Amino acid sequence: MSSGKRRGFGIDFGGTGIKGAPVDLVEGEFAAERVRIKTPASSTPENVAEVFAELLAEFPDVDGPIGVTVPGVVRHGIVRSAANIDDAWIGADADTLFTRALKRPVHAVNDADAAGLAEVHYGAAKGQRGLVIVTTLGTGIGTAFVYDGMLLPNTELGHIEVDGHEAEARMSNRVREEKELSWKHWAKRLTTYYQTLERLFSPDLFLVGGGVSKDFEEFGPLIEVDTELRPATLLNKAGVIGAALYASEHA
Ligand code: BGC
Repeated sequence: MSSGKRRGFGIDFGGTGIKGAPVDLVEGEFAAERVRIKTPASSTPENVAEVFAELLAEFPDVDGPIGVTVPGVVRHGIVRSAANIDDAWIGADADTLFTRALKRPVHAVNDADAAGLAEVHYGAAKGQRGLVIVTTLGTGIGTAFVYDGMLLPNTELGHIEVDGHEAEARMSNRVREEKELSWKHWAKRLTTYYQTLERLFSPDLFLVGGGVSKDFEEFGPLIEVDTELRPATLLNKAGVIGAALYASEHA
């Protein structure tokens, strides 16, 4: 891009919306208003690639690498799991498919990993040393491990077994909404979850992300865990910003 500032571009692929914006990589902020397009009902890789192209057409000046989030395991650009998305994603070579569709180099990254990178570089855990575990509580549960600012990708700890159940199936925000759990009841479940993560990994900080982090005051203080636990601050911008940063680092 012509600007002297470090710019990137990120696209966040979620269950209901696909959002994209140019990102100021110095400040970790959107450099222009984001564009949001509804996620297609059949969200196969090809259909999603078409929406990405439609979205990018709104930003004709973008010429650098583009980062995109995928809510599944992404190893070297290839999607390896699809817990909450179309099964057609498994085995899809996302980097190649999107690079062709967008005619620019594209790097795919797990959605929680993108959020984790963004929060540690620009948000609630800015400058934090040691191990930060970022959890995104949404349709599923995503996790990101960032150690001294470096990402250890694809930790997928939403799928660990806690008290005989898959964590995501009992503790996601979707389950809270569907089962109409009170904040107190949900916090009790989350306590078991965070205590398990604490026992296994001894992190320096937990961040609670996902859309529900805006309600952190309702449930966060009720979660009983020794490790410091803070709400994420970039909210629904974290995916776009983190994806842009990831792409700039992998260009
Ligand atoms: C997926 C993860 C994803 C998380 C949040 C989980 O079901 O396995 O890859 O990060 O949901 O979207």
